[in-house]
Amino acid sequence: MLNIALPKGRLGDRVYELFEGAGYECPSIKDPGRKLIFENADKGVRYFWVKPSDVSIYVERGAADIGVAGKDILLEYSPDVYELLDLRVGKCRMAVAAKKELRPDDLKTVRVATKFVNIASDYYAKIGKDIDIIKLNGSVELAPILDLSDVIVDIVETGTTLRENNLEIKTEIMPISARLIANKSSFRFKADEISRLAAAMKKEVEKND
Ligand code: PRP
Repeated sequence: MLNIALPKGRLGDRVYELFEGAGYECPSIKDPGRKLIFENADKGVRYFWVKPSDVSIYVERGAADIGVAGKDILLEYSPDVYELLDLRVGKCRMAVAAKKELRPDDLKTVRVATKFVNIASDYYAKIGKDIDIIKLNGSVELAPILDLSDVIVDIVETGTTLRENNLEIKTEIMPISARLIANKSSFRFKADEISRLAAAMKKEVEKND
């Protein structure tokens, strides 16, 4: 049996469709209700929904053999897992954004509000800019509006949140998408099952591309 951690929410629904298309369906997952674990013994899979930012914790510690996590989470927390496949869904960008009139280059020290402290620190270290980092847990777009920060480093998907708050992208740091990840010892002990699943998923991803 493969234990699979899926990120709950919109991305999770999209990701489950990939597993289904790859032949790892689990019809009970579509039941409404608040159940968190779903199993299809015939297919040898057990799915569970977890908070997207927690998937890599379940996989790293072996509570899940495999899972799906955003590249943003993998870069930010560097979990000790294998990254098997780019699922090419949940596509977005990690970007620096600020008020339209702000020119970050003019600032000696930039006040950066973000959920992604490591990604932001690495980026500014690379370009050699001093920063004052402010860790937030959500609604990061408020920070420059209330002058808590000069810029934010955050995920931009459609750009609607920025637009509706009169902010704009100043620099795109990197593209982000969902990745199939595996626990390192599961990858050894369940090698056949995991390789078979990853190969079927790869085909499904290419079909949808
Ligand atoms: C994410 C991100 C932005 C928004 C970007 O927030 O932090 O706020 O989505 O999407 P858009 O470009 O399509 O508008 P999330 O929904 O994860 O909520 P959060 O504020 O709790 O981080």
